[in-house]
Amino acid sequence: MLCQLPQSNDPNLLSAAIPFADAGVYRLDEQRALVQSLDFFTPVVDDPFRFGQIAAANALSDIYAMGGTPLTALNLVGFPSCSLGTEPLVRILQGGADKVAEAGAVIVGGHTVEDEEPKYGLAVTGLVDPRRMVTTVGCQPGDRLILTKPLGTGILTTALKGELLDEAAIEAAVSGMTTLNRAASAVMLEIGVSACTDVTGFGLLGHALEMAEASEVALVIEAQALPAYPRVLEMAAMGLIPEGSYRNRDYYLPRVEQSGSIPVEALDLLTDPQTSGGLLMAVAKEKASLLQERLKAAGCGAYLIGWVESAAAGKLRIR
Ligand code: CO
Repeated sequence: MLCQLPQSNDPNLLSAAIPFADAGVYRLDEQRALVQSLDFFTPVVDDPFRFGQIAAANALSDIYAMGGTPLTALNLVGFPSCSLGTEPLVRILQGGADKVAEAGAVIVGGHTVEDEEPKYGLAVTGLVDPRRMVTTVGCQPGDRLILTKPLGTGILTTALKGELLDEAAIEAAVSGMTTLNRAASAVMLEIGVSACTDVTGFGLLGHALEMAEASEVALVIEAQALPAYPRVLEMAAMGLIPEGSYRNRDYYLPRVEQSGSIPVEALDLLTDPQTSGGLLMAVAKEKASLLQERLKAAGCGAYLIGWVESAAAGKLRIR
């Protein structure tokens, strides 16, 4: 669809040259660029405050994936205030404000429309040093792939909607979704990585494939190394697969090598659309264990899930 829209040729729009960039990047001067992104969605948990926290952590994530620092945020709200009253909305906005404050950013305004189904998210603006910016481009053969959060939030929130699990049963995932990628991003900048993206709606499969294509390498992912939140595999085995997972399969699986041999548990994790997922980093082999050590010390996950191989064009291999 986007191909049918006019493309900007402003040389300061640095993100135009980055395939599958996580955020829009606009250069202000040699040392500074604006980095901008937005996201909003319907509630994924019942508690309005935690939904607000999750939506904000998710919206801020693209800024962190690029090694940027969030500065300001705008609330985007759709809400049925006549049927639900304003109280839940206040709690949603308080949750969002809580995470934006934790990020060291400021909410500068927002906009609300009447909507039958509640929706919340934010438009976020940050700063990044274009010389230190981390993008989807740059994976090198031999690099190790590190993921900073477990997978399965799509499966668990589907189970929550279906009332097979209550919110207490998916506490680990809710807590994971409310966790900012801020600490992981800071460690990434400190150690220095080859490339990074955050794992969101396209699942690990889609985002890994995008990074492979942007870097013109093959990403090799080890099926048995994929981390999952508690109860995810159990719920997946019961068939609680979100619709987005099937869309990801249709779109990305034909582009995966040896896709026929992927074990079903791994396939469910690979294609599960993530809300406020972790960062996927490619790091030089000799720095991988230091990166893992520092991530763990900062309270982040640090799962080694694969490596990078050379390829003529972007490829994804599952083994
Ligand atoms: Co992203």
